[in-house]
Amino acid sequence: MAAPDVNTVAADQDPAILTAMAQLFGPDGRADPYTPARVLREAGPIHMTPIGHHVLTRYEDCAAVLSTTAWSHAEEAGMMHPTVTPETAADELPTSFLWMEPPDHTRLRNLVTKGFTPRMVTRLRPRIEELTEQLVDKALEAGEFDLIEFIAYPLPLIIACELIGVPPEAYEQVHQWSQDLARGFDHDYTLPEESLKARSAASRGFMNYFRELLNERRVNPTDDLLSVLSQVEDRGDVLTEQELLATCITTFVAGHETTANLVGTGMLRLLREPGQVELLRARPELVAVTPDELLRLEPSVQITTRAATRPITVAGHDFEKGEGVVVLINSANHDDAAFTNPDRTDVTRYSDPKNPAKKHLGFSLGIHYCLGAPLALLEMEVLLEVLLRKVGAMELLSENPPFKPNVVIRGLESLQVGFKPA
Ligand code: HEM
Repeated sequence: MAAPDVNTVAADQDPAILTAMAQLFGPDGRADPYTPARVLREAGPIHMTPIGHHVLTRYEDCAAVLSTTAWSHAEEAGMMHPTVTPETAADELPTSFLWMEPPDHTRLRNLVTKGFTPRMVTRLRPRIEELTEQLVDKALEAGEFDLIEFIAYPLPLIIACELIGVPPEAYEQVHQWSQDLARGFDHDYTLPEESLKARSAASRGFMNYFRELLNERRVNPTDDLLSVLSQVEDRGDVLTEQELLATCITTFVAGHETTANLVGTGMLRLLREPGQVELLRARPELVAVTPDELLRLEPSVQITTRAATRPITVAGHDFEKGEGVVVLINSANHDDAAFTNPDRTDVTRYSDPKNPAKKHLGFSLGIHYCLGAPLALLEMEVLLEVLLRKVGAMELLSENPPFKPNVVIRGLESLQVGFKPA
């Protein structure tokens, strides 16, 4: 199938809209997707991409689509990944419950939920604190360092590996696979050939590796998620090996890349706003609500997609059954109709329980609401606590740090900073 050129200029489209689209969906606009998102939002609630997908720009419409099962995350698979078929999925991009609907979604999500109860997450706090302190100490020893390499990746990587049951000798390998798969969440037609190949290699590598680990856990179960899942299967729940492996992979990739990206882009926001860091030092109770504000500003998952399960009207457009839509989380989270001064970093935004700010869409809404949200927020909160306690001056050493080309799961390539002990 020939890939349409994503930059093809449709003759009847406003050039300003097309430029904004190119920035929003192209690899060059990664540093600031919010300005083009604003251009689109102010021009209207719905637009058509040059390859023929409708995109929603406003909070209200995005939230409405995510909240209801009138829209499915299963049937739009062909929209983002037209080169992947159900037959080739295991080799190309494993389809887990993230792309399923009830009853399969419920059945599989419930299994993983067993490994993510609030009690289990709270129990992880001491380990997250210990690891974060080690990472921050190492960074302080270096003085000047890449925050992505020293903290943003190792923190969620090690926690996710310990939780799922991946041993330390495999950390480097699963980190690479995870990055290759995260890149592969972008639209197939926007990916260079080598990224598609790397995605397939990562899928096969992950499948084979997790198959080996699961076989081992069936014989010698421990208290990790792989053991829980392998035992569930043994109790006779309907769960194919393919589903089980895809579930492990999605949970791993979804948890690792996204949290690393939040740490990177969230810290960049704070380092650019020393006043907000001072406010956190003066009012430490704000640390617990700051991760939500950082994720609102910098959603690691920038866009998602859905398909209509029945004829339905959104933003004035009549969607037919099966028609897809792109939900711009990055635009919705910066919509002035939903948030006061939406582009401003305000660590007090989520601090008043009597007058709560609107829920951001960084963890989605509805049945696919992020399973790992409490864990991700806890990791970011602990990191802020440890940084405020151990670090004095924090300096940004590069004004324009490079971003990875990823559009869907967006994050920094590196972030050079200088830290001095408190
Ligand atoms: C800052 C970090 C994170 C962000 C921004 C994030 C974001 C999201 C979003 C937006 C979705 C829904 C996608 C959609 O509706 O199309 C999602 C789903 C999911 N996330 Fe996260 N996530 C994060 C961390 C984690 C962690 C730490 C884990 C687990 C270790 C995790 C596991 C999952 C799983 C399993 C799903 C699929 C849920 C379902 O389909 O029912 N995530 N996440």
